[in-house]
Amino acid sequence: MSEKHKDDVTGVETTGHSWDGIRELNNPLPKWWIYTFYATIVWCIAYWVVMPAWPYITNEGWTYTKGLIGYEQREVVTGELAGIVESRADAMLQIAEMPLRDVAADPALMELALAAGRAAFGDNCAPCHGSGAQGFKGFPNLNDDEWIWGGTLEDIQYTVNHGIRWEANDGTRQNIMMAYGRDGILSRAEISDVAEYVLSLSGRSENAEAATRGSEIFATQCVTCHGADGTGNRELGAPNLTDAIWLYGGERANIIESVSNGRSGTMPAWEGRLSEATIRSLTLFVHSLGGGEE
Ligand code: HEC
Ligand code: HEC
Repeated sequence: MSEKHKDDVTGVETTGHSWDGIRELNNPLPKWWIYTFYATIVWCIAYWVVMPAWPYITNEGWTYTKGLIGYEQREVVTGELAGIVESRADAMLQIAEMPLRDVAADPALMELALAAGRAAFGDNCAPCHGSGAQGFKGFPNLNDDEWIWGGTLEDIQYTVNHGIRWEANDGTRQNIMMAYGRDGILSRAEISDVAEYVLSLSGRSENAEAATRGSEIFATQCVTCHGADGTGNRELGAPNLTDAIWLYGGERANIIESVSNGRSGTMPAWEGRLSEATIRSLTLFVHSLGGGEE
């Protein structure tokens, strides 16, 4: 320490420290700084008293000072979660009650409906339709533009609600193609001819004569459901026979089997088994898969 010394230029006392002849002035700290510093100390002590702060150990193990206002983050999170569940319940109620098209037009509702629909599809529909809704033999692909009963929101909703050939449901989609062979309506030769005609509808017949004979049988037996040109009828759930998409297979043997024994695929009705909001979510989900119609 050297003796007290005043700076010549400013008249301020120096600290007595000197580096290479440069002396440090002993200016007092600014007032604002001092007060802020005291304020943080007061704040800190008040915080310890009011909020959860210090851990300490008791006979039962670690605990902490709880603070006067009893704030707890876990409670805050629980409360927020309950809020989310509640707001979702509100949204599910809207999905159950609003016109489907309005739900589809509301991005937030639609996002929730698609998520709910996807989950419900995995639980209830995937065993028959496949996890990607791609379908299997006898169970239609729901991703494509080909619909047996129709692909508008209303059609899909109806199918899911009432099922197909599901006798326990009053409004079920219903139409039974006869078993032309088993029931003795057509002979084996006639069935072979009509199958040849069906093949010709997609340009695959190899026997024009048989196809011509088959066309006459088709005109008397099949057009009521499949239409004069074979493109099917959605009101009757009769598939299009002219394209490359087949529910039960499009080879000659598959067609002969369909005509001989009928098929009568069944799908359960879901009304009463799933909630209204779930059925509507499923409808929107299936409709969104790529084949949805206006
Ligand atoms: C037990 C098997 C089974 C289950 C489970 C099932 N389906 Fe189906 N579904 C079928 C069959 C079979 C058809 C075709 C029936 C027919 O018309 O010959 C079908 C047809 C449909 C159609 C009509 C397709 C069209 O082209 O018009 C829709 C839509 C559909 N299912 C949706 C669903 C949804 C959604 C679920 C789940 C809630 C579901 N299905 C569960 C068997 C099932
Ligand atoms: C009463 C209405 C009706 C009549 C009549 C009818 N069908 Fe069908 N047909 C259907 C329905 C409905 C299906 C859907 C399959 C099912 O039962 O699940 C179908 C399915 C088929 C299939 C299978 C299509 C596929 O995608 O795999 C073929 C093939 C077929 N019919 C051919 C015929 C021929 C040929 C005749 C005339 C001899 C005929 N049908 C008469 C209603 C009818």
